[in-house]
Amino acid sequence: MYVCVCKAVTDKQVVQAINEGVCSRRQLMQCTGAGGVCGKCTASIKAILHENTQNQVMQVQAA
Ligand code: FES
Repeated sequence: MYVCVCKAVTDKQVVQAINEGVCSRRQLMQCTGAGGVCGKCTASIKAILHENTQNQVMQVQAA
């Protein structure tokens, strides 16, 4: 599903970037372009970032 229509960035691309070490919205914008045009996708990107960084913290704690 497209998260950022302006840059044609999907949720999978955002999650992949997070899994590769991206940990802020600014970094996501720099590496995917998402959020850098109209900004309407900012809330969705923040939600995906929050959800996936929380998952990574829980995985580290469980290890
Ligand atoms: S929808 Fe992402 S910048 Fe416009």
